[in-house]
Amino acid sequence: MISRHVFGQPIETGAVIMTIPESTQAIAVMNTALGEDGITLSCQMADTDVVYGLGEQVRGMNKRGFSYISYATDDPIHTENKHSLYAGHNFLILSRTNEPSFGIFVDDPGRVVFDVGETKLDQLCITAGSDCTIYIIKGSSLKDIARQFRELIGQSYIAPKWAFGYQQSRWGYSCEADIRKVVDEYHTRGIPLDAVYLDIDYMKDFKDFTVDEEKFPDFSGLVSDMKEKGVHLVPIIDAGVKIEKGYPVYEEGVQNGYFCKDEDGQDFVGAVWPGKSHFPDFLNSRAGEWFGNKYQWLMDQGIDGFWNDMNEPALFYSEKRLKSVMDEILSMKDENLGLHSFYHMKGRIDSLSGNPEDYESFCHNIDGVKVRHDKVHNLYGFYMTKAAADAFERIAPDQRTLMFSRSSYIGMHRYGGIWTGDNASWWSHLLLSIQQMPSLNLCGILYTGSDIGGFGSNATQDLLMRWLEFGIFTPLMRNHAAAGTREQEVYQFDNIEDFRNIIRIRYGLLPYIYSEYMKAVFNNDMYFRPLSFDFPDDAHAASVEDQLMVGESIMIAPVYTQNATGRYVYLPQDMLMVRMKSMENKSCQIMSKGHHYIDIALNELVFFVKKNHMLPLAAIDDSVRSTTDCHFHRPDSDYEWIGFADESAEYMLYDDDGSTKSYTPKDQWIKIVRSAKELSL
Ligand code: NOJ
Repeated sequence: MISRHVFGQPIETGAVIMTIPESTQAIAVMNTALGEDGITLSCQMADTDVVYGLGEQVRGMNKRGFSYISYATDDPIHTENKHSLYAGHNFLILSRTNEPSFGIFVDDPGRVVFDVGETKLDQLCITAGSDCTIYIIKGSSLKDIARQFRELIGQSYIAPKWAFGYQQSRWGYSCEADIRKVVDEYHTRGIPLDAVYLDIDYMKDFKDFTVDEEKFPDFSGLVSDMKEKGVHLVPIIDAGVKIEKGYPVYEEGVQNGYFCKDEDGQDFVGAVWPGKSHFPDFLNSRAGEWFGNKYQWLMDQGIDGFWNDMNEPALFYSEKRLKSVMDEILSMKDENLGLHSFYHMKGRIDSLSGNPEDYESFCHNIDGVKVRHDKVHNLYGFYMTKAAADAFERIAPDQRTLMFSRSSYIGMHRYGGIWTGDNASWWSHLLLSIQQMPSLNLCGILYTGSDIGGFGSNATQDLLMRWLEFGIFTPLMRNHAAAGTREQEVYQFDNIEDFRNIIRIRYGLLPYIYSEYMKAVFNNDMYFRPLSFDFPDDAHAASVEDQLMVGESIMIAPVYTQNATGRYVYLPQDMLMVRMKSMENKSCQIMSKGHHYIDIALNELVFFVKKNHMLPLAAIDDSVRSTTDCHFHRPDSDYEWIGFADESAEYMLYDDDGSTKSYTPKDQWIKIVRSAKELSL
């Protein structure tokens, strides 16, 4: 049951697709107070209550003990003291033991604060603006609440099947030879690869919808050569548009009034990679349509996937702020800088990027209505991505186009996925990535994953290996690293054999991963779930922070600490433990419910299968270089079925052509039944 409570005059965000009548009752599950700064909702939490949700945020799956601020921020240091990452995912579930659990979605695209027991351990306190809509969701279980929320916000985006293959990226592949080298290195070692990413280096002077012709003399030729090898090239698109006379995107944007305006009605000037830039007003439908149509130029050259970046929008500085900071610092030139003056100067420099006052200094024209940016800040990345997705519908309506974004808001999951931004090659970020996945799924974002191996800092062989062993399960499985860090493609390390084996297992598991992804889409379910969603009566399950249910059959317990040769695993029921060093080297063992210490070698994947469940494993041999070489349409008997059951297990297997949008015909789902004897143990 969903109730909708309206405060003030909220902006239509596009988060929700269902029409829910406005409630005439007060919100019963939380106390509501209207103050000068907005609305505050609060309630007591019992010691055993757990708070799930908030999508892309730092810290654990249970969000208790910290404050989270929804205000999309370009901050590459994701430490546990940070309150904001790149998104506004204002949905949480308060899972209670003594009272009915409920979900709450705060539909306010401005700044919203969730104090989840930071100020007072037992208090949940949410502060939003005075114009917002609150949805309260009650249900029979956590899964039911999650499902109702997903029905409210609409069906999740479906990526093309190739985007479920292994993908390689690096900020720094700067010319055609770099791209060809990456593909050759993978192929000569027999490691499957489905995509290579083009970061900002492919553009001419960081201008969107340009290609540097010196570095890429035959761009469309390269795209098609790569596609013949089964590899898709995925270029980045940035939000900021370089100010440069004669650059068509800049000229058209200025002429048509498509950029955000400052307080004086001039096009707002902020800086990103190309230096001074304007920012398309994606909230203005005409501007969105115009910018979206620009993707066609790349699609005409064979591109069928994109990633949208810097769309919080990131600001290195605004023109006005830079001037005032520069003036002040120059005036200090001859001073003897000490404690106060030095730190003051440093603070002024630090205040240049992503300054909240700059977000208050420009406006949108939402189809005739002028709205200050900070009031709708969290919608910017959403609407950039929607603009692209709407354009793909016009340009290539039958084709699935890969799209994922850095910034997002609830509702964007209908148009694309996200990646979790600039993590680091830290073991703690491998754990963070594990914990972010179910929170993102709760908010509808299914096509997601982190930068495998870590973006900032230097990855080590063991970190990359362990991260891949988790990344095997994330729908987006992309290794990405920042410029200046150690090269992180798997072939840069020793024991290539182990990397090849692990990546091949991903391809072996694809029939399962793809089927489970599609089930999550069509049934409005979560692909990744905390254990308590599947085992609500197990009191211990709710405190497990480092294991996940993946699809209907699997539980994972990744190793995320350096030098560990194994880990403790909690089994909420008897399960089958599957050990795989390669597609050929596999063993299974039935394990009893309870706590176990499991040895897990560095080159070994271990996962668990629920009782009376099973999963398909496709045969992957040396001929498989990408998803194009995987023939999922073969009869189900070609799969090995792994599982264990008292009598028999059944599984709904899904397949389709992977590239068009003909998802629904019933014959794409096949029900497979195997008797206990027929299952691989
Ligand atoms: C920031 C993005 O988060 C990162 O993935 C990308 O490599 C850099 N921008 C450069 O484009």
